[in-house]
Amino acid sequence: MTPEKNGGTAVLPGSYDPVTFGHLDIISRAANAFDNVIVGVVNQPVRKQQTVFSAEERVAFIEAEVAEYGNVQVKPFDTLLVDFAREHGAKAIVKGLRAISDFEYEFEMNQLNRKLAADIESVYLMASPEYSFLSSSGIKELATFGAGIEDLVPPYVAKALHDRLSRQGR
Ligand code: PNS
Repeated sequence: MTPEKNGGTAVLPGSYDPVTFGHLDIISRAANAFDNVIVGVVNQPVRKQQTVFSAEERVAFIEAEVAEYGNVQVKPFDTLLVDFAREHGAKAIVKGLRAISDFEYEFEMNQLNRKLAADIESVYLMASPEYSFLSSSGIKELATFGAGIEDLVPPYVAKALHDRLSRQGR
């Protein structure tokens, strides 16, 4: 029997540069709770910092991992998050929270998004303990200095990151 869900559609936004096992844990838990999940990958031109991977690459990395789920789609976006959520009929924005340090930024984003669209609820999933220290920027720092990241990101992401960072001569 298919598990009963009635959360409708949820959007899971982020830069995902690159996706980590921590992100994938949140995506899989959201896929269990909501009927449909749209992973929204922030497109580079709207962000101030350069990303290591293009939006297409970041989307492809996640797609490879969520292919087994029947209710998860991955899409790039370069609009306001609430407009992206509306476009997909999402009632919820889902984000992962790791530590108190995430709270301040997410609290601000929550207030902004709520002001723009009070009808879209932001929902926070606490990071699983084994991933509570994991961040894309931490992974990039480790990869830059040649540390092993194989147990933190999918194998082809680890390889792509090592190739990309060493190609850039970092
Ligand atoms: O920390 P991240 O992963 O870069 O988060 C990106 C995002 C979109 C989740 C965060 O910046 C947010 O909640 N922004 C709300 C304001 C907005 O819509 N910005 C435009 C993003 S294209």
